[in-house]
Formats: sequence, structure tokens, C-alpha cells
Amino acid sequence: MSEKILELNNVVFSFKTYAGLVHAVRGVSFEVRKGEILGIVGESGCGKSVTAQSILRLNPEPPGFFEGGEILFKGQDIIKMNNKQLRNIRGKDIGFIFQDPMTSLNPTMRVGEQIEEVFIGTGTPKAEVRIKALNIMRLVGINDPERRFMQYPHELSGGMKQRIMIAIALVSRPSLIICDEPTTSLDVTIEAQILDLLLELREKLGTSIIMITHDLGVIARLCDRVVVMYGGKVAEQGTSEDIFFDTAHPYTSGLLKSIARLDMERNQVLTPIEGTPPDLFAPPKGCPFAARCEYAMSVCYEYEPSKTTLTEEHSTYCWLQHDLAPEVDLIVEKREA
Ligand SMILES: Nc1ncnc2c1ncn2[C@@H]1O[C@H](COP(=O)(O)OP(=O)(O)O)[C@@H](O)[C@H]1O
Ligand SMILES: [Mg+2]
Repeated sequence: MSEKILELNNVVFSFKTYAGLVHAVRGVSFEVRKGEILGIVGESGCGKSVTAQSILRLNPEPPGFFEGGEILFKGQDIIKMNNKQLRNIRGKDIGFIFQDPMTSLNPTMRVGEQIEEVFIGTGTPKAEVRIKALNIMRLVGINDPERRFMQYPHELSGGMKQRIMIAIALVSRPSLIICDEPTTSLDVTIEAQILDLLLELREKLGTSIIMITHDLGVIARLCDRVVVMYGGKVAEQGTSEDIFFDTAHPYTSGLLKSIARLDMERNQVLTPIEGTPPDLFAPPKGCPFAARCEYAMSVCYEYEPSKTTLTEEHSTYCWLQHDLAPEVDLIVEKREA
């Protein structure tokens, strides 16, 4: 198993609001290893972005605050860092790519100059920044970088803007890049190109990537390991194979049944998961998924399931994994031998 560069242990993050506390992240633990692509998947509102932003302390604090846990980056707890230490990590050791590149690009500045500025920020001599900016534009697959350099953000397509954002994130050669739904606003062909670019960069540079998405298709294409989140918690985590072929949590299985697949029979219907996610102002005391789970037992409403370790890589939080629970078959489709 390769070296871990990031480790979240039981992170609890909430927001104080006039209506009460929003328990956005409720005890999340996972690790990111060197050179891997880790996916975080789950429906909207399950706490993916708050978790991701907590890693760089990008959630507004206040109203947000950590109620507990630790976030160890190369052994140092990010939750305990002061602003100066955080500035040394943000955009340097850890890069961040958001869904909407427009919110991060300066609309009044040529994109090439924006890349140059980041190089200047890292101490690159002025005489070298032009050539370095053009090189990094080539690295992220921008053809004709000299022309693109001179353009303003509004002159670029969504996919091109996202390439610029990736270039900016790469300037400091971060060991980790956090991508929060980076392709959600792009059409599918452009999305595929951006995902391929991320794969290629991991290959070339060995960068670890956290890919946040609500889309299992993105996970399948990109990720080595996956964390499935539900109601501010981890429901299941494992390798992509575990998640797709040895599904252990009914929520994961529900997600799998709700996506269209290329190998589906024409007449096969998609079944969305019925019901709504839990109210994070007053999360249920048992399993957060119990109210929507077709296998829920009375224990599920009363007590939180503890972690069950299935294999070295695969674990889940579900009472069905208890020795006394009935056997159910969650696997959506068995792999051909
Ligand atoms: N600044 C904030 N103030 C109050 N609640 C917030 C804030 N940001 C996020 N939340 C709440 O935290 C929960 C998790 O949100 P988020 O992490 O953005 O979900 P996801 O990214 O999985 O769609 C949601 O209930 C959301 O409303
Ligand atoms: Mg989000």
C-alpha cells in the first residue's frame, strides 16, 4: 500500500445558523494515498463539498466550525494550523478546482497573465514566466497556447476555462488536487476530455487527486478508490471494483440502480432512490439511510451502525453486515467470469 498523504479522522463540521446547527459533516474518515485518484460520491447535500473545503479550511468559519476530528496532511493537523500555515498549503501543496471556473478566474485579465501571476507568486523570475506559462498550457492540452494566452475568460469555452484552472492549480506542482464537480457544467464530450487529462496528469506527475462528484460514471472512469457519502457520513468505502461489483451498502446499491448503463437492456427501467435525504438540522439517531432503505430493520432506526471491515480496502456502516442480520443480495449485476 503506498504512502498516505492525507488522512481525515472523524471530522465533524457544522454551521451555526439562525435556525440551529447544520450538521454538515458528521464524523468522516478516509485517507488519500500518493498518486491515487480517490472519488467522493453521493447525492446533492450529503456533505461532499463541505468535507472537501474543510481540507483547505475554505468553509466560512464562522458560521462554520470544527466540532472534532483531525485532518493530517503529511502528518500535520490542518485543523490546528494558523492562517500563515494555511496560506503555505493552499494553492501550493494542495490545489483546488471548482465546478464553475468563472468564479475563480479574473474576468478582466488575460488568462495567460493569470497563469504568469501564479508563477510570480511562487518566486519564478519574471524573465521565465512567459515560457513557463506557455509550457504549462501545453501540458494541460491547450493547442495554440500563444493565441489562448492573450484571451480573456469570456472568450473561452467552459472546457478551455477548466483547462486554464487545472494549469493554474499545477503551477506549484501540488502533491494533491481536490476537484469539486469540475465537469458538472460541461457537456459529455468535453467532460470526457477533462477526465482523460486528469488521468494523464496523474500518470505524468504522480499527483494525488480527490474527485468529488454525484456521478458514478465519473467514478468508474477515473477513480482507484471511492468514498460513498450519505447524510454527512461515510456509508461505504472501497476500491472502485468493490463499490461497483461487491456493493455492501443499500445506499450504494440504490445509486447504482439509478444510473443509466451502456450494457443495459432497452426495456430495463431506472429506479431512482425514493424519499429525501435526512434533515441535517436534526439528523436521525440511527442509520441516516434507514428511512429510505428497503432492507431497514428496527435496529437501523435506533442505533447508528458501526464500521464493518469487509476486506483490507472495503468497509461499510450498515447493520446488514451484522452476523445476525438477514442475507440480502445488493450486487446490481454480477461480473462476467
Ligand atoms: N455556509 C453554509 N451555511 C450553512 N449550511 C451550509 C453551508 N454550506 C453548506 N451547508 C450545508 O451543508 C450541507 C452539505 O452541503 P454540501 O457539502 O455543499 O453538499 P454536497 O456538496 O454533497 O452537495 C447541506 O445541508 C448544506 O445546506
Ligand atoms: Mg457540492
